Amino acid sequence: MTLEQLDKDYVLQTYSRDYTNFTKGVGSTLYDENGNDYIDFGSGIGVNSVGHGNEKLTQAICNQAKNIIHISNLQVIEPQAKLAHKLATLSGYDMACFFANSGAEANEGAIKLARKYGEIKFDNKRYKVITLEHSFHGRTITTVKATGQESFHTPHFSPYPDGFSYVPTVDDIYDAIDDQTVAVLLELVQGEGGVEPLDKAKIQKLASHLREKDVLLIVDEVQTGIYRTGDMLASNLYEIEPDIITLAKGLGGGVPIGVVMSRHKDIFSYGDHGSTFGGNYLSTAAGNAVLDILSSYKDSGVLDEVMIYFEQKLEEIAQKYSHIFIKHVGVGMMRGLRVKDGDTLNAILKGSIKNGVVVLKAGRNTVRFLPSLTITKDEINKGLERFEKVLDTL
Ligand SMILES: Cc1ncc(COP(=O)(O)O)c(C=O)c1O
Repeated sequence: MTLEQLDKDYVLQTYSRDYTNFTKGVGSTLYDENGNDYIDFGSGIGVNSVGHGNEKLTQAICNQAKNIIHISNLQVIEPQAKLAHKLATLSGYDMACFFANSGAEANEGAIKLARKYGEIKFDNKRYKVITLEHSFHGRTITTVKATGQESFHTPHFSPYPDGFSYVPTVDDIYDAIDDQTVAVLLELVQGEGGVEPLDKAKIQKLASHLREKDVLLIVDEVQTGIYRTGDMLASNLYEIEPDIITLAKGLGGGVPIGVVMSRHKDIFSYGDHGSTFGGNYLSTAAGNAVLDILSSYKDSGVLDEVMIYFEQKLEEIAQKYSHIFIKHVGVGMMRGLRVKDGDTLNAILKGSIKNGVVVLKAGRNTVRFLPSLTITKDEINKGLERFEKVLDTL
């Protein structure tokens, strides 16, 4: 039986998959079973933040695995406490963490924290959460409902929880707030929705308005966090101090992890929330290693240098192929090229993998680039040369 057949017969078919069988990765280069190489501009949808086979990360994971992989959260977990401290220190926010296993789980935890805040702080419980249209917050029943895209609220999975509403723009949030609104949840750069950065001045104004009204600001940094936008968090880049921040993807460098960070340290009490695996030795050892690697990469200036290089290269491509692309969007290592139509986008995606370069899709008309943050200029050049070959055939 072929691998494709095995997958089709035994794995529930929830993904429309490509069947290239990758067997090894080095930095930002992937190799398939026949030894063909591919430049990886997707990094597992923004997860492999330090590339494939990173020496320091794999060492940390192997060393931890040899000692303790997992002990329950009923015991103190040294790398978990250290990671929480590191997240607070590097972000500059006086926050405490709850550890989960994914982005959706982190957002679930954030919504629970907000709802409890809404209960204990106000005589009439506040519970409503406002999110933006085109947002993406996860695939659990609650986070799918928090996601501001009607296509995700299919009747298949109804009924959904109450208390979520969506507005088209940041300007519309003000009027949508009522006396039962407990929180606004948003991505500062909408990832799945099309790599759309929100306006910094508008976000700063909103953040101070929400603080005044005692409405919580939850920033979903599942995709933007951990240096993806150039700063440790996009909230740092936007110079705001949210009430709650959620993290996942890049923090574990490929090991599943999710985090709820909050300045409201006294809302959750014993038994309010929990997770068997969340924050175990293995995932938090990985998180610590990733932060050590990336913070020194940032401090050395190399991260910023490579980010600027990548931005310039994509801008050149956007200009050179202006008959294909409407514009170049994004921040840091979270970038997109808006394509004129969906058919061309599909042709680019198919052609890219055939030509040895992995790119992603966002929204209906964006080619998305979420490379590893440690990608080299040589890898960028090689990948974009291959990408241009695809564009030349269109
Ligand atoms: C902004 C954002 N929030 C939440 C999620 C969900 O994360 P996960 O797939 O780890 O549950 C994603 C995943 O793409 C995301 O981009």
